[in-house]
Amino acid sequence: MKPLLLALHDQLGLAAGLAAAIAAEPGATELRRFPDGESLVRIATPVDGRDVVVLAFLDRPDDKFLSLAFLARTARELGARRVGLVVPYLPYMRQDTRFHDGEAVSAACFASLVSREFDWLVTIDPHLHRYDTLAEIYDIPCRIAHAAPLISGWIAAHVDTPLLVGPDAESRQWVGAVARDAGAPAIVLSKTRHGDRSVTIEVPDLARWPDHTPVLVDDIISSGHTLAETVHGLRAAGAPPPVCIGVHGLFAGDAFNLLQKAGAGRILSTNAVPHPSNALDVTGLLAAEIRDLLAGA
Ligand code: R5P
Repeated sequence: MKPLLLALHDQLGLAAGLAAAIAAEPGATELRRFPDGESLVRIATPVDGRDVVVLAFLDRPDDKFLSLAFLARTARELGARRVGLVVPYLPYMRQDTRFHDGEAVSAACFASLVSREFDWLVTIDPHLHRYDTLAEIYDIPCRIAHAAPLISGWIAAHVDTPLLVGPDAESRQWVGAVARDAGAPAIVLSKTRHGDRSVTIEVPDLARWPDHTPVLVDDIISSGHTLAETVHGLRAAGAPPPVCIGVHGLFAGDAFNLLQKAGAGRILSTNAVPHPSNALDVTGLLAAEIRDLLAGA
C-alpha cells in the first residue's frame, strides 16, 4: 500500500510535490479553530495499516505544534502503521543549553515531545551547535538532508567571483560545505551577541579578495541582525552588495527590510520556511531521505 502524506499549515502547497516525489498518496486533513482559539484536527483519508508521512512547516512553532501533535496521535489511534514527521525547519534548536539559571533547555524539551508522537523524523540542516547529533535529544530515528549542494549550485549559476562569508563560528559547518562544493574561498567572522536584536560582528580586511562578491550564508535568518550587521561591516570595508542566503529564512518582523536597508544585494532562502525570498527547492533533498527511511521499514 502506498504511504499517505498528510500536511497541516502548508500555505505554499508543497505537499503535492513531495507526495509525487516519494510516490505517496496525498491525504486530506482539516484544521478548524474554535472561537476560543482551540483547534480541531480531522484526517479525512483512511490511515489504517498505512505508513503516514506528516509534512509540517514549524516556523512560529508555538502556533502550530499542538495541532500537529493531535494529528499524529489521531493517525496512530486510527491504525497507522508508522507516523513520520518531515519538518524542513526544526525549531527550538538554538536554546540548546541553560544560558541562565532556571531556563528551559527548549531543544531537549521539544525533542522529547516530538519523540513521543512520531516514529521518525526528517529535516534540513538543523542548528547543531552544542549537540553533535539529533540522537542526543531525539529518541526516534532522525535523518538530516543538507542544503549545501543547492546553495553552491545557485552560486555557481549566479555569482561570478564569490567569497563565501560565515557571520559567526557556528556558520563554519554550512559555509565550509558550500565553499567546498562551489570551489570558492571562505572566511568565517566573529560575532558577539548582546541581545535578541543586538550583535556585533568583526569584519576582517578584505584586501586579499579584490573583485569578489561576498556571499553570506547562515542556517537561520531570524531577526536579521546577524546578517545585517555583517552586510553593514562588509559594505563599510568597501565590498559590493553582498548576496545573503539563509537555509531557514524566518525573517521575523522587519528582518527582510533591515537586510535591504543595510545594503544587501539579492536575499534568498530555501522553501524549508515558506517566504517570498524562497529560491531553492528542498523537495528533492527531503524525498531522498524519506524514501530511504520508508524502504528500511
Ligand atoms: C545562530 O547562531 C544562528 O546560526 C543564526 O546566526 C542566528 O539565529 C541569526 O539570528 P538573527 O537573524 O536574529 O541575528
